[in-house]
Amino acid sequence: MLSTILILTLFIIISLFFIAPHIIIFNPPNTNHQIPPSDEVDDVTLFNHALSNSNKLSHLSSNNHNLKLAFLFLTNSNLHFTPLWELFFHNNPTNLYNIYIHADPFVNLTLPTSPLFHNRFIPSKRTFRASPTLISATRRLLAHSLLDDPSNAYFLVLSQYCIPLHSFHYVYNSLFLSNTFDLSQRNSQPNPQPDPIRLRYNSFVEILSDAPRLWKRYVARGRYAMMPEVPFDKFRVGSQFFTLTRKHALLVIKDRTLWKKFKIPCYREDECYPEEHYFPTLLSMADPDGCTKYTLTNVNWTGTVNGHPYTYRPNEVSPELINRLRESNYSESYLFARKFTPDCLEPLMQIAKSIIFRDSN
Ligand SMILES: *[C@@H]1O[C@H](CO)[C@@H](O)[C@H](O)[C@H]1NC(C)=O
Ligand SMILES: *[C@@H]1O[C@H](CO)[C@@H](O)[C@H](O)[C@H]1NC(C)=O
Ligand SMILES: *[C@@H]1O[C@H](CO)[C@@H](O)[C@H](O)[C@H]1NC(C)=O
Repeated sequence: MLSTILILTLFIIISLFFIAPHIIIFNPPNTNHQIPPSDEVDDVTLFNHALSNSNKLSHLSSNNHNLKLAFLFLTNSNLHFTPLWELFFHNNPTNLYNIYIHADPFVNLTLPTSPLFHNRFIPSKRTFRASPTLISATRRLLAHSLLDDPSNAYFLVLSQYCIPLHSFHYVYNSLFLSNTFDLSQRNSQPNPQPDPIRLRYNSFVEILSDAPRLWKRYVARGRYAMMPEVPFDKFRVGSQFFTLTRKHALLVIKDRTLWKKFKIPCYREDECYPEEHYFPTLLSMADPDGCTKYTLTNVNWTGTVNGHPYTYRPNEVSPELINRLRESNYSESYLFARKFTPDCLEPLMQIAKSIIFRDSN
């Protein structure tokens, strides 16, 4: 009798040991930031609409003379640097770019006074840091801009803390025309084409496979939660601020398989950051050769606190800082940088014309 109870107890303990990783009994997941089903339905409807209306224009073609840059701002506060961005766009033909803004509707924004940003707000939903809501917001921006203008050819995701490091002309030229801008492409083609037009367009998205804490982030939803779609050796990390080709923007809003995994809430918020994993993992699985694997937005991760990068303050803003932030081992220059405190606006404006938007080095 006693041994039966003992065996039964042992059996229950062993079973718990195997079941626990699947159904977490002791440590409930943080479900606060789960995507509401009604938001899911809205998004899928939007993505399907964008997909069915964009199929014919899924590639950049060299005979298209009206290629546009789509600037996608993802924000949960005021857009701190709109005067600087206004200057960036100032005097450039509006047939070369579009602006789209996803702003958390639960935040009271001071609307930018510039007409450039009027009516550029897309229908948005609530976002939370380190949660799949940031992935949804980015996909919403991609879908709206894909639908809005078939000439949108590159999609640049930026935050309210991002600043430009060059003129619009420099950015446009680097992405669409230069065949020397992307150093990784130059290395892979020892005999560059004499043709001054870039023959191949890549997405500029950071894709890293050997970052610290990668395993902890992989198991943040449970030991086997990502299987079988995303085995650990396919799991990647990178910046959520990237530049995608139209082909990849379509690929991202088409995805259902990986989204099903990355939208699962994590048990620990400080090991989650799904927005830093979803895009690099998806793109590296679907089209690794179509991605540069580096970013065009300079971020200073030295001395990071609580997952926040270093934030520059007004007394640090100088021509030397701008020049230092431009330096990249992967491209001729970084094009954007983050993060800056909102009160950096004034010192940045002071050096905007003489340094930031001046093209000669
Ligand atoms: C936004 O403003 C409204 C009206 O002024 C106020 O009732 C609300 O509490 C504010 N919300 C936040 C998040 O500050
Ligand atoms: C990056 O941040 C560190 C402080 O954490 C600072 O000392 C360093 O100068 C910064 N790097 C650049 C390029 O500004
Ligand atoms: C470029 O790479 C070298 C060698 O790895 C490194 O020492 C240097 O800091 C890098 N420069 C930048 C701007 O990242």
